[in-house]
Amino acid sequence: MTTELMTNKVEIKNLSKTFHTKRGEAFAVKDFSLSIESGELVCLLGPSGCGKTTVLRSVAGLETPTSGSIEIAGQNMNGLPPQKRPVAMVFQSYALFPHMSVFENVAFGLRVRKMPHKDIQIKVEKMLELVGLHAKAKRAPNQLSGGEQQRVALARALVVNPEILLCDEPLSNLDQSLRIKMREEIKRLQKELGLTILFVTHDQEEALYLSDRIALMEKGRLVQEGTPMAFYEKPASPFVKEFLGGIKKVGNELVRVVALT
Ligand SMILES: Nc1ncnc2c1ncn2[C@@H]1O[C@H](COP(=O)(O)OP(=O)(O)O)[C@@H](O)[C@H]1O
Ligand SMILES: [Mg+2]
Repeated sequence: MTTELMTNKVEIKNLSKTFHTKRGEAFAVKDFSLSIESGELVCLLGPSGCGKTTVLRSVAGLETPTSGSIEIAGQNMNGLPPQKRPVAMVFQSYALFPHMSVFENVAFGLRVRKMPHKDIQIKVEKMLELVGLHAKAKRAPNQLSGGEQQRVALARALVVNPEILLCDEPLSNLDQSLRIKMREEIKRLQKELGLTILFVTHDQEEALYLSDRIALMEKGRLVQEGTPMAFYEKPASPFVKEFLGGIKKVGNELVRVVALT
């Protein structure tokens, strides 16, 4: 699995997206370029409404860019429908099938792909083991906690070996302690499976913890990208400095020392 996943790279080139609104054309994303290397976790960070979801949905094929292109592993994705793209997505709302067991939720994508029964059994069991839900395979989603449901969503996304995992604020609905546990889990899975992940969040602390690199957006544009430490040490503008205002360096770690709302 790992070797398969190591050859991916996402290149977003000059992506722009306008929406028609009552007040005319409005930019959601403007001339946005970003590369995500194979095996890298990049957080798209920025305040609500800055265009993060629109970028992610464009990579997934759920939005058609007004201009610009998206390449995955050197292949141009323009015009390809979502199901033909080598991506899987995890949402803030878990979007599990309520009438299916945990096992069947995870198996769904493999059944659609008409994988043989026996192989599905093996793959789903392995994936449930990986996210620590092996013992709860027969339960219905509503018999699970929020964190467990999000883990099922994660397993369902990963079971089809996507080249790229797209996450849109997947932890925002969880309470603080679960959120911290789940982000540790995501980091572990990324390392273990060599996953390439584009992770949207508006939470500075989450981005600092998870990211190999952060891409910070403001009003549809990329304002800075780099490692968490580079952000801290060299904020590119007053906006960046203010956005990471509560962050302090303690030893070699960056931590948020005041709660920003
Ligand atoms: N389908 C849509 N129609 C009209 N405007 C939209 C649509 N989707 C997003 N927008 C607008 O585009 C901007 C960026 O939205 P979004 O990408 O959801 O931001 P974020 O995920 O960072 O909160 C916002 O101003 C939002 O209102
Ligand atoms: Mg959003």
